[in-house]
Amino acid sequence: MSSFTRLKQKMESREARIGIVGMGYVGLPLALLFSAERFRVTGFDVAKDKVATLNSGGSYIVRILPAEVQAAQKAGFRATADYAEIAQMDAVIICVPTPLNEYHEPDLSYITGTVESIAPWLHEGHLIVLESTTYPGTTEEVMVPLLEAGNAAGLKVAHKAGETGVLVAFSPEREDPGNETTARHDIPKVIGGCSPEATELAGAMYGAIFRRVVPVSSPSTAEMTKLLENIYRCVNIALVNELKQLAMRMGIDIHEVIDAAKTKPFGFQAFYPGPGLGGHCIPIDPFYLSWKAKQFDFRTRFIELAGEVNIAMPYFVIEQLAGALNDHCKSIKGSKILVLGLAYKRDIDDLRESPSLTIIELLREKGAIVAYNDPFFPTVGHGRHYDLKMTNTPLGNLGQYDAVMIVTDHSSYDYKAIVEEAQLVIDTRNATKGIDSPKIVRC
Ligand SMILES: NC(=O)c1ccc[n+]([C@@H]2O[C@H](COP(=O)([O-])OP(=O)(O)OC[C@H]3O[C@@H](n4cnc5c(N)ncnc54)[C@H](O)[C@@H]3O)[C@@H](O)[C@H]2O)c1
Repeated sequence: MSSFTRLKQKMESREARIGIVGMGYVGLPLALLFSAERFRVTGFDVAKDKVATLNSGGSYIVRILPAEVQAAQKAGFRATADYAEIAQMDAVIICVPTPLNEYHEPDLSYITGTVESIAPWLHEGHLIVLESTTYPGTTEEVMVPLLEAGNAAGLKVAHKAGETGVLVAFSPEREDPGNETTARHDIPKVIGGCSPEATELAGAMYGAIFRRVVPVSSPSTAEMTKLLENIYRCVNIALVNELKQLAMRMGIDIHEVIDAAKTKPFGFQAFYPGPGLGGHCIPIDPFYLSWKAKQFDFRTRFIELAGEVNIAMPYFVIEQLAGALNDHCKSIKGSKILVLGLAYKRDIDDLRESPSLTIIELLREKGAIVAYNDPFFPTVGHGRHYDLKMTNTPLGNLGQYDAVMIVTDHSSYDYKAIVEEAQLVIDTRNATKGIDSPKIVRC
């Protein structure tokens, strides 16, 4: 029996051992899903504190309960920082970060670091799948050469039907944090392998947890699919952000317009304006493609334009605040401002690229005295692009602030009470919809 047939059978019978590299927002939930389907899963992470937390049955992601980690432990789940254990895995799924560097270019160092660490432990028939969002070509141009160069046994990656070696595929993650309407297993899984067998084997593995797998002809097609999905969102959000600014000048409520437009049963999908883009994906991924496009003498103008509009949104909401304070004969300088919500979107504990961070920094630069409230973040320190060192301010005595700015519309907030107590409310999310008060400035 070939190693491929043997491994496919192991996938189908749930005997295959699965290693997931990167126990973050993507990797940990995926590990729990495989565990729930009776696979023996090992989570790999370079962060020793995360490994220790998981092995003690804890969780560092708010929406993942320790009980879920403990249930996975009973099914054989454990975490490790030791890459030597890769050798015991039948399949390895890579879910490490893919940020931009300071020049707004792809930073593949997490992927290359991971692949270099995995390569020495490869064996014949090993399935390696990359899930991190990246530009088309990463799997074949970056990952495959590193896998082949890094293993002493001289193993090659299979490229044609029937070829033996290591099986490599790309399968994008499509998680939508906080989305409670679509179950994870109902999100179809796109897979593009370097060889037909890689696609088939990855399909057998993911087929155990996703109801539908969508094979495509190559890793690049799968990589581009993910980018199309995110660029589509980025461009459409920019469009409504621009139209919101026009609608405000015209005295039209853009949210009322969107609600009316979305009654059209075909050809329209609603996107909503906001204070700027946040999260690990939408503000970043499009620039992976615009960077790669330059290699082909091509300018991705929609991406650049959408980026320009979206990046300007925090500045726009600050202007609205300045205008509203001006109406009360006040300036931003010296005003006490409470920012509600740090997370980049409602009801999640993720502040990566959150517009709140930019807004707080801009307010401080202008001399405001800024406090924040967010039930998900007792403190905020510093990250790649911010250095705030702040502590959560309990909600209360809102009248002491010159303005309360709603940047993230967490559902735990009582917006009616907030409007009643505050002197001035700058609402960047339409969270006060239905509340009629001259104190509210919607922008
Ligand atoms: N978060 C999302 O909602 C989401 C959705 C779709 C796609 N993605 C993509 O998935 C990828 C992972 O995102 P995430 O949100 O899970 O990131 P994350 O930062 O939450 O997690 C990444 C984990 O990888 C670990 N890590 C870094 N380098 C490592 C290495 N060399 N070896 C082992 N572990 C390492 C980190 O310690 C961290 O725990 C990114 O490419 C992202 O764009 C994320």
